Amino acid sequence: MDARKLVVEPSGAVPVAALLAAGDEFRGARIGVILSGGNVDLATACARFSAGEATRLQLSVLPPEVAADDPFARFGDLLERARATDLPEPNAFTLATVGADGRPSARVVLLRGFDTRGFVFYTNLESRKSRELAANPYAALCFYWLPLDVQVRIEGAIQQVSDAEADSYFASRPRGSQIGAWASLQSTMLQSRADLEERVAEIEARFADQEVPRPPFWSGLRVVPERMEFWYGQPSRLHHRDVYTRKGDGWTLHHLYP
Ligand SMILES: Cc1cc2nc3c(=O)[nH]c(=O)nc-3n(C[C@H](O)[C@H](O)[C@H](O)COP(=O)(O)O)c2cc1C
Repeated sequence: MDARKLVVEPSGAVPVAALLAAGDEFRGARIGVILSGGNVDLATACARFSAGEATRLQLSVLPPEVAADDPFARFGDLLERARATDLPEPNAFTLATVGADGRPSARVVLLRGFDTRGFVFYTNLESRKSRELAANPYAALCFYWLPLDVQVRIEGAIQQVSDAEADSYFASRPRGSQIGAWASLQSTMLQSRADLEERVAEIEARFADQEVPRPPFWSGLRVVPERMEFWYGQPSRLHHRDVYTRKGDGWTLHHLYP
């Protein structure tokens, strides 16, 4: 079936509804949506289409024609698009690390900030991931936003954020999360849930009636990208891959076979 293009006008009038109504005409087709503005509920559109057995339709975001020389702008644009859907946790990504033993491990964490310096997440500095990153300070990140059918892969070196930056972020967290950061001996053996609850009670008592300071063993890590890949799902598995590699102060862009 041919790929078709649906252009969503900046007016906010979303022809996805018309597409839904079109039913048979689009059955089995994969639709590339060029987002040119407006508030498009792609998640709902996808859900509606996949609900019917016979009507299997996926929406995908085509590569933007703008910001081609700025991977950070491109990332920011996509994250905004993901946030505009009702996808839970659009900031979630898989973080892969490799420890001293050369074996990879991966887990999901949340992106808490990004700019041209890199991509920041927060964690316990004594956790398994942090120990692996101390031994081998390189990480790979992978985002996948299902409603957009877009994957972003980022690879680079790790730097700890400044104490001031970590303090400021920690202070913005809900008190329960602050207590939790102190209470969790992340990635170490827990004998029983009661032990964790006991630690929470101890920490609550220690900081009763005062602000909870940032634990010295908890901070942010910034991944300074050397490579960023943008993958856009396309019809017939002929996906579109744009890879940026750092070159001096700028980036070079090339494409990969899917
Ligand atoms: C949606 C989601 C978000 C998470 N966000 C974080 C996070 O921001 N920081 C963190 O340390 N762990 C986060 N976790 C927990 C990690 O996946 C992981 O269990 C924990 O960090 C311990 O990993 P490690 O033993 O490899 O260090 C999150 C888990 C999920 C499922």
